[in-house]
Amino acid sequence: MSDVNERVNSLISMLKRRGFVYPAFSIHGGVAGLFDYGPVGGRLLRKVQEQWREHWLSKGNIVEIDSPTITPHSVLEASGHVGAFNDHASECGSCKAIYRSDHLVEQYHPNPDSLTGLELDELIKTNEVSCPSCDKKEMLPSRPMNLMFSTRIGATRGGRQAYMRPETAQGMFLSFPMIQRHFRNRLPFGAIQVGKGYRNEISPRQGMIRQREFNMAELEYFIDPEINPNHEFIKWKDTTFDLIPDPQNNQQKTVKMNILDALQNNIVRHPTVAYFMAETYDFLIGIGADPNRIRFRQHESDEMAHYASDCWDLEMLGSYGWIECVGIAHRGCYDLGAHEKATKSNELRSWREYDEPIEVNKTVPSPVGSVVGPTFRQQAASVSDALLNLEELPNQYPFQLILDDGSSVTITQDMVEIKEISETIRGEWFLPHVVEPAFGIDRIIWHILDHGYEITKKEGEEYCILHLSEHVAPYDVVILPLFEKDGMEEFALNLQSEILQLNRINAYYDGSKSIGRRYARADEIGVPWAITIDYTTLEDGTVTIRRRDDQKQVRITTDDLITLLSDNSLHSQF
Ligand code: GLY
Repeated sequence: MSDVNERVNSLISMLKRRGFVYPAFSIHGGVAGLFDYGPVGGRLLRKVQEQWREHWLSKGNIVEIDSPTITPHSVLEASGHVGAFNDHASECGSCKAIYRSDHLVEQYHPNPDSLTGLELDELIKTNEVSCPSCDKKEMLPSRPMNLMFSTRIGATRGGRQAYMRPETAQGMFLSFPMIQRHFRNRLPFGAIQVGKGYRNEISPRQGMIRQREFNMAELEYFIDPEINPNHEFIKWKDTTFDLIPDPQNNQQKTVKMNILDALQNNIVRHPTVAYFMAETYDFLIGIGADPNRIRFRQHESDEMAHYASDCWDLEMLGSYGWIECVGIAHRGCYDLGAHEKATKSNELRSWREYDEPIEVNKTVPSPVGSVVGPTFRQQAASVSDALLNLEELPNQYPFQLILDDGSSVTITQDMVEIKEISETIRGEWFLPHVVEPAFGIDRIIWHILDHGYEITKKEGEEYCILHLSEHVAPYDVVILPLFEKDGMEEFALNLQSEILQLNRINAYYDGSKSIGRRYARADEIGVPWAITIDYTTLEDGTVTIRRRDDQKQVRITTDDLITLLSDNSLHSQF
């Protein structure tokens, strides 16, 4: 077994044993692609989500919403998911096993996800790809498979067709009128949503990387396409990003570049996309991802999702190679336009005020009151309104005029006079554009675990340390009485209660087995600080603080400990 495999197996086994992440429903045989976050992992998930929320909500013009995960057919038909949210599947003619066609040809193409069904079939045929299950070379022609989980709302017969949402984004698009009102109609603004997404993957693999129910976190940022967004890039002037630009770049060559240079050289095409690439990078570094194992790869045009006009994947390098963890897509006005078209809603547009109002002269049809009045009597007002609202001048008489109530009347030439009027136009309605950073939270969690997992040796035995960032470590502190006797246990439990009163500090108590074993257990799940209570503590009130990453220890009073913990400045003592 290779070192990488040994390491990844050790990590997966630790994650299962210590209650981070493990296959769900296992005593019923389990289901591929469904996982539980356990007592330790649940905290890690929550903390990563909280950091993510904080990162975006602190920008000031971004709000959080929460939409249903069950989504009616008409929404996902309008969004294009019913028609286009497919992967290609190849079935083995012999054993009937089904695989994602692009996975079967990964070794023969740098980016098989971008290939059509016919191209995939051609590669499978030319390379005589065999079935990973039975090894026969009998793969049948591929077919597209929609990835959405289908369900029904209401009674099975006559109920309404629906799907479990494949992305949270549609909730933000449909809440656009409310979000726009919240921001008093002033673009740009954004909305975030954190929650579950569902994709009925053809053949889930690579553990947490490809799940059927997964944790998403998406931001839809609405902009006026005609206004220069003026993002501030100074913060990243000394940061070099690894970029794989150029959709036709089959060699996947990486260039190292400052984000502003990438924008000025038109490698990244839109300032808002560039801005979100840099912000996304900051978020990941902030939760402990290794900056040397992050890169951005631009999508090929035929690889892009059906709604996107430019897309960069942020990929992280881990034990499974480079994996897409965030997609930053320019969705243009695709979604708002699609929902407007499907629903005829007039609420999905924004108003753009002109710098100077425009005066236009136009000719309009105007009702002749002395004819329309006596002819139509009670209907006369409706007829006059409908005439005034005609978008084009009538080109022949008589013609049928449709009224507001749906009825129609016959209009003759003597009922209409054509007038020249001058109109002041102050602005226009338009469909905002959207830039979307979409995060796969489980994939990110996998990579920070993978980046942080160190297997070392201690006294001849394997010793594992999980170097998690203090921002996301499931526990902040472990409290360890040297022995559970002579008052040390009581002291430790009191100290734990005091620490738990502090804002957002999580401390757990561990008194079982030797102190060495307890340090090891805490290091393995990434607890940054261990506090030991011993006989000296009982004499003078000082405790030992041990730092996970270098295992250095210092002694301080419990009063200092409480102050330093609440100020988040324990490192100052080392
Ligand atoms: N909304 C982005 C995605 O579905 O991946």
